[in-house]
Amino acid sequence: MEVKNFDWNSLAGNFIKVVFLALILLFAYYTFGSPSSGSPAATGQEIFDAQCQSCHTIGGGNTVGPDLQGVLVRRDRDWVARFIASPDFVIAEGDPIAMELLEEFNGIEMPNRALTDEDVEFVLVFLEVQDSLTQAAEDLPTGNAAVGEKLFTGAKMLEGRGTPCMACHTVGSVGQFGGGNFGPDLTHVYGRYGEAGLTSAMQNISFPTMKNVYLGKALTAQEAADLLSFFDEAAILDGEDLAESSTNIFWGVGSAGALFLFIIMAFYWPRQSKNQTERLRNKADADSRRNS
Ligand code: HEC
Ligand code: HEC
Repeated sequence: MEVKNFDWNSLAGNFIKVVFLALILLFAYYTFGSPSSGSPAATGQEIFDAQCQSCHTIGGGNTVGPDLQGVLVRRDRDWVARFIASPDFVIAEGDPIAMELLEEFNGIEMPNRALTDEDVEFVLVFLEVQDSLTQAAEDLPTGNAAVGEKLFTGAKMLEGRGTPCMACHTVGSVGQFGGGNFGPDLTHVYGRYGEAGLTSAMQNISFPTMKNVYLGKALTAQEAADLLSFFDEAAILDGEDLAESSTNIFWGVGSAGALFLFIIMAFYWPRQSKNQTERLRNKADADSRRNS
C-alpha cells in the first residue's frame, strides 16, 4: 500500500505561484488601474462626465437640469457645494433657491450622487476652470520665456509681491529639487488649458488654493505673458508627452516581463520540483536497464 507523504515541494511551488500572482496584480494595478494622478480640474471633469453630464451641460443650455455655466458666479460657492453633495437634503429643507429650481425643472429632483467632500471640491474646481475658459481673455503683451522662468523661480520678484510659483509647483526640471509639489506639475499645463484658457487663468487666478495666496496680488499682464511663454517653452522642451508615455512604457514592459516570468514559472516550476525524486528514480531505472 502506498503511503502518501505530504508534498512539501508542491507546497513551495504553490507559494511561489501565489507570490508571483500578487506581484503581477500589483504591477497591473500601477500600470492600468491606479487612480488618475491628474490635476483637480481633470479629476473633476472625470466625475462630471460620469455622474452629471446626463442631466447637465456647461454652456449648452438647459436639459434635464440647468446649464451649469457660470453657476459659481450666480450662486454662492458654499451653496453649490452643499447642493451637489446632498440635493435631497437641501430640497427637503425647503431651501428657497432649490424650491425655485425644482419648479423650473418640472419637479425633477436632482439625485444624491453620494460624492465625497473631496469629489465635490474637484467638480467645483472643474466648473471654475470652465468658467475662466469662457471668459474672453484680454490680449496680452508679448511674453519672454526667460523672464517667465525668473518669475516662476522667484529670481525676479512679482510686482504684486505674490509668492513665487515654485513654492508649490515644478515645471520640467525647474524646481524638481527643492521646488514645491503642493500644486500640480505644470510642465504640460500649456497644452492642457490652451493659450486662451491659461491666459485667463493667469489673469484671474481662481484655483481655490491659489486664490487666497494671490488675493490683492494679481499678476500684471506682462508677468502673465512672460509666465505663459515660459510654460509654452517648457512643454516644447519636454517633447510634449514624451516623458509621461515613456514611464508608461517602462511600467508596461515591467509587467509584461513579470507576466511572462509567471507563465514560465507556473508551467515549469511545479513539474520540476514535484518530480525531482521521481525523475532521479526514473533515471536510475533507465541506467540500470541500460546496464543490464
Ligand atoms: C438625473 C438628473 C441629474 C443628475 C444626474 C445631476 N443633476 Fe444637477 N440638477 C438636476 C436638476 C433637475 C436640477 C434642478 C434642481 C432640482 O430640480 O432638483 C439640478 C441642479 C443642479 C445645480 C444647481 C444649478 C443652479 O442653477 O443653481 C447644480 C450646481 C448641479 N445640479 C450640479 C450637479 C452635479 C455636479 C452633478 C453630478 C455630480 C449633477 N448635478 C447631477 C438634475 C441632475
Ligand atoms: C501656495 C501654493 C501655490 C502657489 C504659490 C502657486 N500655486 Fe498654482 N496651484 C496650487 C494648487 C494647490 C493648485 C491645484 C488647484 C487648487 O487646489 O487650487 C494649483 C493649480 C495651478 C494651475 C492649474 C494646474 C492644473 O493642472 O489644472 C496653474 C496653471 C497654476 N497653479 C499656476 C501657478 C502660477 C503661474 C503660479 C505663480 C504665479 C502659482 N500657480 C503659484 C498651489 C500654488
